[in-house]
Amino acid sequence: MLRPKKKRKLLPRIFAAIKRELKSPNVYGLQWGDPDIVRPLRFIRDRYVLPYVSSEHTAVEIGPGGGRWTRYLVDFKKLYVVDYHAEALAELKRNFCKSSMEFIKNNGTDFPGIAERFVDYLFSFGTFVHLDAPIIETYLANMKMILKPGADAVIQYSDKTKIMAQLNESFSENTPEKMRTMVLNAGYTIREEDLTTMWHSSVIRFTV
Ligand SMILES: C[S@@+](CC[C@H](N)C(=O)[O-])C[C@H]1O[C@@H](n2cnc3c(N)ncnc32)[C@H](O)[C@@H]1O
Repeated sequence: MLRPKKKRKLLPRIFAAIKRELKSPNVYGLQWGDPDIVRPLRFIRDRYVLPYVSSEHTAVEIGPGGGRWTRYLVDFKKLYVVDYHAEALAELKRNFCKSSMEFIKNNGTDFPGIAERFVDYLFSFGTFVHLDAPIIETYLANMKMILKPGADAVIQYSDKTKIMAQLNESFSENTPEKMRTMVLNAGYTIREEDLTTMWHSSVIRFTV
């Protein structure tokens, strides 16, 4: 009696999974978790990314990699994707190439070609978790020049108070206390801190 009932439920789920797999783009980085599927990443997408997307605003993504998060940002009026590695930008270009997007190879902390006070929203995920404090501090100083007053910056960073960050040697020595201090010292106002969603990192949203 149980078997046919189980089968009925299982088949649609299998078909849905195949459909999802076929639909999902071949984006480098999805092996770290697909924000459409993994619950904490979905929360990050829904709370810190999608509400800010606007066809009237300009955005910057730092360290886009293969575009795992870029795909949610492409509807901005203008999107600057800034990466230290030209290879990463070339890979990104293969997946996403809209006329509204500008691909910028930087020196690891700067924003060449982006005008002062031009940016409404800045996002970075999977990148600051690897950056050491002096690089983060320089980025915070440089970012201040390109952000409009009232702009939102959302950055995910390494949180070594969490065991999963302690176990990951590629994660930098950062904590919410250190990050908070760096952000405040750079002259920003902190709008929101999320210390619980991610298992190895935390998220901070701040404004100029
Ligand atoms: C681990 S990948 C994360 C990619 C993507 N954000 C994601 O979550 O899937 C890190 C990305 O940051 C870039 N990157 C590393 N250091 C950087 C820096 N100082 N400034 C800008 N990009 C950097 C790398 O080239 C790579 O594209």
